[in-house]
Amino acid sequence: MAEHPTRYEQLADDMAQAIREGLLRPGDRLPSVRETCLRRGVSPATVFQAYGLLETRGLIEARPRSGFYVQAARRAPRAVPQAAVPKTEATEVAVSALAFDLLESTRDPAVVPLGSAFPGAHLFPIEVLARSGARAMRRLKPQQITSALTAGDDKLRQSLRRRYALQGIPLAADELVITNGAMEALNLCLQAVTQPGDVVVIESPTFYAALQVLERLKLRAVEVATDPAEGVDLDALAGVLARERVAACWLMPTFQNPLGALMPVARKQDLVALLARHGVPLIEDDVYGELYADVRRPPPAKAFDSDGLVLHCSSFSKCLAPGYRVGWAAAGRFARDVQRLKMMSSLATSIPPQLAIADYLLQGGYDRHLRRLREALAEEQLRVRRLIERHFPVRTRVTRPAGGYFLWLELPPDTDALALHHRAMAAGISTAPGVLFSADRRFTHHLRLNVGHPGDERIDAAIRTVGEVAGARR
Ligand SMILES: Cc1ncc(COP(=O)(O)O)c(C=O)c1O
Repeated sequence: MAEHPTRYEQLADDMAQAIREGLLRPGDRLPSVRETCLRRGVSPATVFQAYGLLETRGLIEARPRSGFYVQAARRAPRAVPQAAVPKTEATEVAVSALAFDLLESTRDPAVVPLGSAFPGAHLFPIEVLARSGARAMRRLKPQQITSALTAGDDKLRQSLRRRYALQGIPLAADELVITNGAMEALNLCLQAVTQPGDVVVIESPTFYAALQVLERLKLRAVEVATDPAEGVDLDALAGVLARERVAACWLMPTFQNPLGALMPVARKQDLVALLARHGVPLIEDDVYGELYADVRRPPPAKAFDSDGLVLHCSSFSKCLAPGYRVGWAAAGRFARDVQRLKMMSSLATSIPPQLAIADYLLQGGYDRHLRRLREALAEEQLRVRRLIERHFPVRTRVTRPAGGYFLWLELPPDTDALALHHRAMAAGISTAPGVLFSADRRFTHHLRLNVGHPGDERIDAAIRTVGEVAGARR
């Protein structure tokens, strides 16, 4: 069945047609973002995405402080990275030391955080949250301090259930467990469905912390090729499921880290159906789901689960309150096991940050905050992609994610991205080298860059420096 284009794709296609038909001619200025929003009834983020798409197709160009113009002469579009073909046998995992160094480096405020996993702290309503926290703590009744063990604060869980329900995902009352960030949720879910030595399917490339969790739990990884636009390769996954006894899959179908890939809805449905046929649980890591550039939140795979096999994990770390360490798991038929493991490990999640977020959600400003955050991130992505096009070697391929705040760069094949990372660090700039993102240290000429720091005036110079270093020495 043909996929429906997203709104920004539709808008880009309409504009491309206007250019093809000569209604917009070379050198013409495109309508401003504001005008297009009003005319088409779409958000600025959608217009930026559409213009970004046209730019990458080589049809228009942005002129600083002036706007978007139809390209005078067509140039070749910048290519997006290719999906890699990983090894097919299961591997033991060991990437912790490098990941640890990276985390250390991104804690130093003097280092430009292109390697960081978080967006700029100024994008979050820290003061409003603090007021919510103070208010909630003043109202706290003594018995509440222990009544929220182990599943978490009732009001917070109710608010989350309501948000799931609004996405058409009804959760049982006791399905949600509040955790210390998504990281704990993912750890507990994986532990609930595996034994040491089991095989777990992960994406290639994947989030390095997924590799660390597998390492800690003594699990073996089978990496499945993942397309920068469409997510995990379902045919390859079906092949692995037919060949191996797979205990679980850990996937990020929405704005995958590091690729930013968004699985189209029909493929998410196929994924859930495929795993259901094999009785394999899906641990769905969905921490970036709220950071879409389009008009609607993409449904998680959980929305298509009728067997209780999807353990959906997320948090407020990337979209509201980094550092509060409040996440959750909606663990389907494994919810009780996850709760039991939570009780046996950390017993409960700290009450004050849960109450602060619960109060904040009840005040009603969350969706407005998310809208602003999404717009800021979409604009910044476009801006930094342009800088990359200007300053990186011409053969560099860059992703065009429809959400989140990571760009994945495939540099010319003779580039040693780890050496580039070290040289950038020496210049006070962190990056996330590609070898971090696979168990067998492939992606040697790839980099993940964080583009979630609008307003940080060091970014432009840092992109230029990293691009120049990449171009000068490989
Ligand atoms: C894909 C992915 N999952 C999970 C996490 C961890 O989330 P949290 O900070 O809520 O533990 C991160 C953080 O970088 C992430 O990128």
